[in-house]
Amino acid sequence: MSDATTDPQRMEKIVSLCKRRGFIFQSSEIYGGLNGSWDYGPLGVELKRNLKDYWWRKMVHERDDIVGMDGSILMNRAVWRASGHEETFTDPMVDCRTCKARLRADQIPEKEGRKICPNCGGRDLTEPRSFNLMFKTYVGATEDENAITYLRPETAQSIFVQFKNVLDTARKKLPFGIAQIGKAFRNEINPRNFTFRSREFEQMELEYFCRPEQGMELLESWKEERLKFYEDIGIPRDKLHVLTVPDADRAFYSKGTYDIEYQFPFGVQELEGVAYRTDYDLTQHQKASGKPLEYFDEETKQKFIPHVVEPSAGVDRTVLALLCEAYDEDTAPDEKGKQESRIVLRFHPRMAPIKCAVFPLLKNKEPLVAKAREVVALLRPHMHVFYDEGGAIGRRYRRQDEIGTPFGVTIDFDTLGEKGDELKDTVTLRHRDSMKQERVKISDLPQILIAKIS
Ligand code: GAP
Repeated sequence: MSDATTDPQRMEKIVSLCKRRGFIFQSSEIYGGLNGSWDYGPLGVELKRNLKDYWWRKMVHERDDIVGMDGSILMNRAVWRASGHEETFTDPMVDCRTCKARLRADQIPEKEGRKICPNCGGRDLTEPRSFNLMFKTYVGATEDENAITYLRPETAQSIFVQFKNVLDTARKKLPFGIAQIGKAFRNEINPRNFTFRSREFEQMELEYFCRPEQGMELLESWKEERLKFYEDIGIPRDKLHVLTVPDADRAFYSKGTYDIEYQFPFGVQELEGVAYRTDYDLTQHQKASGKPLEYFDEETKQKFIPHVVEPSAGVDRTVLALLCEAYDEDTAPDEKGKQESRIVLRFHPRMAPIKCAVFPLLKNKEPLVAKAREVVALLRPHMHVFYDEGGAIGRRYRRQDEIGTPFGVTIDFDTLGEKGDELKDTVTLRHRDSMKQERVKISDLPQILIAKIS
């Protein structure tokens, strides 16, 4: 479906670029794929890593009040019973009796006031029934009831069940947070919109524990903090939307939830949820495990279960937003000065998979190649650098524009000192977005580029 706020053609171009340039491939592609699973190629993995590293830096390394952890994907089934996932982590599902398609009941289109199957147009649909989204599996050699567990559908629960261990070892005082990045799995009825709704994906979650009276205020401040994060990675504020989740749609234990949404080419959709979950999770686990999960307040000498505010972001959805935001088409002069169209990914330099490409003007001139290799060696300890000596220089620039490399450095005969000492050991630094070129000293390059990418 297309309307004024959607642009399916733009989305198609982005998906095609992702495959053509090695950002994202269909999982198991040579066997026909696996719906809802995706593989990140050489450039996609760099983009994803830059995002996760920046989140970790902002959430953990640059703060005194947050520590990290890395929990297991498989946990005791009791965790999912206590958290409520086994009972209630469901979506309403409907079957089409005509084509046998399984559909999410809340995503079925209507025609002339009646629900129709989006697959075959049939009207013979079953009543909605609950479908649990957790992937069930068996631990050990026997496939019986006692061996059942699930692939985790969110990373948050391992943080709650390790709350006491982290508190005792990290020795933090309230308010403090535990951050985690990791895989989560949901057997979505209808995976769609490229990587947006997948069955296997990554989350970046923070559980920020606090006193009950701090909860509402922290919900507001975390929402603002997270909006700033998206701006810092190149997603402008005017493309973000904050939805205050209405009372009826909120989990019963939550006292307030915001969805941070992005204007994707397929519509405005959720990137992250910021939820005030009260003391629900820790209380549930304390009850079910029989182990105390309380906090002892040294000042008041009181014990209580902390409340929690949770900013929970999707890695894959944010990567997709970065790609959608960066994609652009404009014109640039070719070798002969004629304008030609170019595709350019305008990533923020801090997110770009490759930070700088280094080009010797000619590949068959040994001194140019040697100097270019020296520049690569100078930059490599600080950033991901790509060396390219093949083809006309304009074509090499164009290839880098298409994958979003913000800087290009060309080594020419002036670098070697052929026009005198003044230009010796200087290079052309080309900027992806403006296509402007400037002459800079090789020795100044690391400092100039590091300032832009960090
Ligand atoms: N611990 C809270 C929690 O998991 P959620 O809103 O269900 O909350 C948080 O998920 C984030 O995880 C979402 O905002 C989204 O970015 C990401 N996410 C959830 N389901 C996803 C899916 N099927 N595919 C990709 N990302 C997903």
